[in-house]
Amino acid sequence: MKFFIDTADLAQIKEANDLGILDGVTTNPSLMAKVGIKGHEAINKHYVTICEMVNGDISAEVVSTDFDSIIAEGKKLAALHKNIVVKVPMIKEGVKAIKWFSDNGIRTNCTLVFSAGQAILAAKAGANYVSPFIGRIDDSGWDGVQLIQQISNIYTIQGFRTEILAASIRNPNHIIQCAEAGADVCTCPLESILGLLKHPLTDIGLAKFLEDAKKFV
Ligand code: E4P
Repeated sequence: MKFFIDTADLAQIKEANDLGILDGVTTNPSLMAKVGIKGHEAINKHYVTICEMVNGDISAEVVSTDFDSIIAEGKKLAALHKNIVVKVPMIKEGVKAIKWFSDNGIRTNCTLVFSAGQAILAAKAGANYVSPFIGRIDDSGWDGVQLIQQISNIYTIQGFRTEILAASIRNPNHIIQCAEAGADVCTCPLESILGLLKHPLTDIGLAKFLEDAKKFV
């Protein structure tokens, strides 16, 4: 399973990248706003900076909702860097745009996916990635990880090549459950990635080893 970081914060991207386990980055307009990036020019510059920091796929989201504008915006984003993947919302015009991008060699990540039916449409349209938002599904009282499992089963049975990118991760356990459920990628906040490191027995064991090591120096 690939690890992406879900942020536009350069310090967090650097910290995850320095761990040596980072395969890419996802952003969205809310994440850009959170770090105070405003205006097309500044946003595009920020995408290029991220592309130069991380050797992997970088999702850049369109903010248009009609076919012609999504295509125009996506073409500009894709031209910024070879590693840009155009993130397109799961709406009717978005599905049409994903098909167009797929036919024209531009890679896409279909975002805001909350059902297996939407995941089938994204795959049929030729999306490279499909992003089910598992945390938001859990928040609304459904089971996000179960959706990953369901999409994984469908894609295997049908031979779809779209990669399942589990998004809206809330904690380290989500990452483990998504790995078990067949996600190809997990895009996570830095805190959830670092949470995977933690175990009290590791800390206790290391403290004891270091204490005993002092006995033979
Ligand atoms: C990723 O592509 C999504 O934009 C992101 O994971 C959404 O996460 P949230 O539900 O925490 O906003």
